[in-house]
Parts: sequence; C-alpha cells; structure tokens
Amino acid sequence: MPLMTTKPMFDLAYGGGFAVGAFNVNNMEITQGIVDACVAEKSPMILQISKGARKYANMRYLKHIIDAAVEDHPDLPIAIHLDHGDTLDLAKTCVKDGFTSVMIDGSHLPFEENIKLTAAVVKAGHGAGVVVEAELGMLGGIEEHVVGLSAEEYEKNVEKFLTDPVQAADFWKRTGVDSLAIAIGTSHGAYKFKNEPKLAIGRIEQIMKTCPGLPLVMHGSSSVPREFIDLINKYGGNMPNAMGVPEEQIHTAVSKYGVCKVNIDTDLRLALTAKIREVFATKPAEFDPRNYLGPGREAIVGMVRRKLHVLNCAGKAEAVIKQWKKLGNPLPVFYTKAAHA
Ligand code: G3H
Ligand code: 13P
Ligand code: ZN
Repeated sequence: MPLMTTKPMFDLAYGGGFAVGAFNVNNMEITQGIVDACVAEKSPMILQISKGARKYANMRYLKHIIDAAVEDHPDLPIAIHLDHGDTLDLAKTCVKDGFTSVMIDGSHLPFEENIKLTAAVVKAGHGAGVVVEAELGMLGGIEEHVVGLSAEEYEKNVEKFLTDPVQAADFWKRTGVDSLAIAIGTSHGAYKFKNEPKLAIGRIEQIMKTCPGLPLVMHGSSSVPREFIDLINKYGGNMPNAMGVPEEQIHTAVSKYGVCKVNIDTDLRLALTAKIREVFATKPAEFDPRNYLGPGREAIVGMVRRKLHVLNCAGKAEAVIKQWKKLGNPLPVFYTKAAHA
C-alpha cells in the first residue's frame, strides 16, 4: 500500500530540487482531478483536508474517496494530511481517522503557547506513527483575520510577520516537529498582493541556515492563473484585482531551497468555478451536474499537471516508493493489523 507519511517524500525533496504539491480536497471531483493529474505525471501527492472540508463533506465520505484512490493506484505515493488543525483534539481525531500527517497551526499564539501546543501534537502524532507540521510566523488570509489586519496593513508590515530564523531553530528543537510552514510573504486566497507580487526568498535561505535539514512548507502558494480569472469575469463573475504568487517564484523556492511542500487550494477552486460558470453561461439549458462538474474536473487535471512541473515533482513517484521501502515501509499505527484486532 503506497499510503505513507510525508517522510519518504521530504527525504528526497529536501536538497533534491523539488517539492510535493499539497492539494486541498473537498469533494469527489476535486480529489479525482488531483489524482488523475498525479497519475498522468507519475507524481507523489499530499491530499489535505481542512476542518471546513471535514464538516462540509463528512470525513467518512472523504476518507472513502481517498481510500478508493489509494486502492486504484498502488504505485502512487499518497499522504493524507490535516490542513490548519487548530486543537490537540482535532489532531488526535485525525490520527484516529487514518491521516498520515497532521498540521497544528498555532502561529497566531504567543511563541511559548505555540511551542506547548505543537509539542503536545507531536507527542500524540509520533506515538501513532503520524508526522506533524507546524507553523511559525504570520501569513495573510486566515491569520490576517485572527489579528485583525487588513490586506494593505499586512503588506506594508510584511517584514514584521516573516518567520524569524533564530526562533525557528528554537521552535524546532523544543517541539521535534517534522516540517515547518514559514511565512515569507504569501497569503491565502485569490487576493495575495495589492502591488508587485514578491516573496522574501532570502528568508528561506536564512531559515535553512539555522534549521539545516528541516523540511519547509509554503502555504498560500496558488498562482491565481489569469485564464481562470478571465473566464470567471467573462461569464458573470466579479473578481477584479485577483493576484497570486508567480509560478517562477514558486519554482525558484522549490528548486534551489529546502521547500518540500507547497500548498494549493485557491487554484483548484478557480479552475472548477471558471468551468462551471462557462458551461452555465454558454449552455443555459444544461442542468445535468455531470456536464458542468465534469469540465471542472478536467480543468483541475490540466492545472495540477502544469503545477507538478513547476514543482519539479513530475516523475518522482517511483523514487519516493523506493525511499519508503528503504525506510521499511513505515505506516501509521492505524493501518497495522494490531490496531484493528
Ligand atoms: O488554507 C486554507 C485552505 O485553503 C482551506 O480552506 O478552511 O476554507 O477549507 P478552508
Ligand atoms: P492558497 O489559498 O494559495 O491556495 O493556499 C492554500 C493553503 O495554504 C492551504 O493550507
Ligand atoms: Zn494554508
């Protein structure tokens, strides 16, 4: 079974010039679009589920959809990851649900509290063979609402919110976390920049110096492709000034630095929405969901395939499986016979 934690993936990605795409799943079509793209590109994948996705789709349904993908594609490395977990209880529930990786996001908390919460999740996760991602520093989007900053204020003060390399080393040492989401100027959603899109690439290098070997994660990495925004606006949508992270900057971050995981959700939403809008506007008599969700799913396949090349992740499935075997086929306790006896 090639279901695995992210460890074998990051072992190769770190210093290997590529990153694994972590795509948010909320329903069957989105999951199939991502999986079909990874099949076509022979690429490992991280399927991530937020608290909102759990609530929307019902975890049992989502898990079975992912299990179907795992069953259908025994040669593809797949990790199931909790995105932006906010409590120890939620992280423990995900461990019990068969996730192979969980994120605990205490980035809005004071430093010591973030450490305390993260260390508790690491203890619970590692005890069950599950790896843990944490976050330090402050992205826009979700966190922006937490601290009540406007996008403009965030951008003006971005330097203040970037991950501090010295704190990162202390955080890593005291939590034993497996990977770290860093703030380098990205934010969630479709409106990432008001002016020129720019990442603090130099900050990645500084963090790599204080935390050598620690896999780094980039949240808020959608590029908000022009083609989808144009379709959305052409067919009745209203998304002026949408702007993402240019793909060249993502490419630099993954090919030259230790960024091993790149989170993408918004681009999936845009691809699906653009195609649905197009069908509704050009075929007003259409009412069979398969005839608008189907084109949406196809648009996701195309977008994700392109992204896997930006991440240099295409063609890496076989090497990751080899690394997983070299590590002794590790799987969380959930998947062992003993756990179900
Ligand atoms: O970073 C957040 C992801 O895009 C998940 O969003 O909480 O709306 O599912 P969500
Ligand atoms: P985007 O909104 O840029 O797709 O970021 C998604 C994300 O970081 C999920 O954790
Ligand atoms: Zn995120």
